[in-house]
Amino acid sequence: MAHRWTNDLTLADATPEAAFWNRRRIIAGLAGTGLAAALGAGARAEEALAPNTWDEVTSYCNYYEFGTGKGDPSKYADRMTVRPWSVKIDGLVDNPGGYSLEQILGEMTLEERLYRFRCVEAWSMVVPWQGFELADLLNMAGVQEGAKYVAFETLYRPSEMPGTAYKVLDWPYREGLRLDEAMHPLTMMATGIFGKPLPNQNGAPLRLVVPWKYGFKSIKSVVRITLTDQEPPTSWNMANPREYGFYSNVNPHVSHPRWSQASERRIGGGLFAKRQPTLMFNGYEAEVAPMYDGMDLAKFF
Ligand code: MTE
Repeated sequence: MAHRWTNDLTLADATPEAAFWNRRRIIAGLAGTGLAAALGAGARAEEALAPNTWDEVTSYCNYYEFGTGKGDPSKYADRMTVRPWSVKIDGLVDNPGGYSLEQILGEMTLEERLYRFRCVEAWSMVVPWQGFELADLLNMAGVQEGAKYVAFETLYRPSEMPGTAYKVLDWPYREGLRLDEAMHPLTMMATGIFGKPLPNQNGAPLRLVVPWKYGFKSIKSVVRITLTDQEPPTSWNMANPREYGFYSNVNPHVSHPRWSQASERRIGGGLFAKRQPTLMFNGYEAEVAPMYDGMDLAKFF
């Protein structure tokens, strides 16, 4: 597996796998390697990114196709068949068609990245992902002039997805990005966590990860990617446009209509842990803010 070291902290090469489980050693290790400096603008020293545990990341999930409870995905997502898997790439691309997972992985460079993950519900985690840059996949498909947005769809297979019996959302789950957001080097397609293949409940075998946006943008188990010149409809925005915008950039200054986004609860912190302040663009402001120059972030939320 080839590794690239870009933008944010990466761990797997610097520490033995066992260290994923030992937060203290990871923090100590960072101080020694100077990697702490790579935490990114806005990250405070005391927030040295220590990943959540495997159990936290895989048992506290949102994947409404398997139910709306945080524990439903880990209970039911095993029912989903993830092999064989293919992704249809269509719309404004030079090479449209169905790409098998093997075909895609054969072309991509996998790397490890440790990202903050902030849900719109005001909880957060730190997750060590494996995957590749979405830009590499889009370049493989050949983005045509005129493409301005990228639309994504999750698998919709009611026989394996008990949650789709309920019309909580208009299935299939849909998400979208502006083309420059999709091509941004921080935007990745994840294939694994903690050096292991992605568990079904976390969006196997291929899910989007956009670390500066609320977690619902990071669509799971992607089966279709469409390049388009129109802003695509997205599931949460369709369900409640007043509460969930197309952009959904993490912004501590813009409240959700029903709760503040100024702070967050880090999963695993324990019952009495202090909430921590939410960072602008989830701590990735230096990297991504220029994409929104001149936009009113309260209006385009
Ligand atoms: N993708 C699909 N297909 N269905 C979902 O319900 N939930 C979203 C996002 N992607 C969701 C989804 C939400 S609200 C969040 S916070 C993240 O997945 C949760 O990812 P995790 O369970 O891996 O932490």
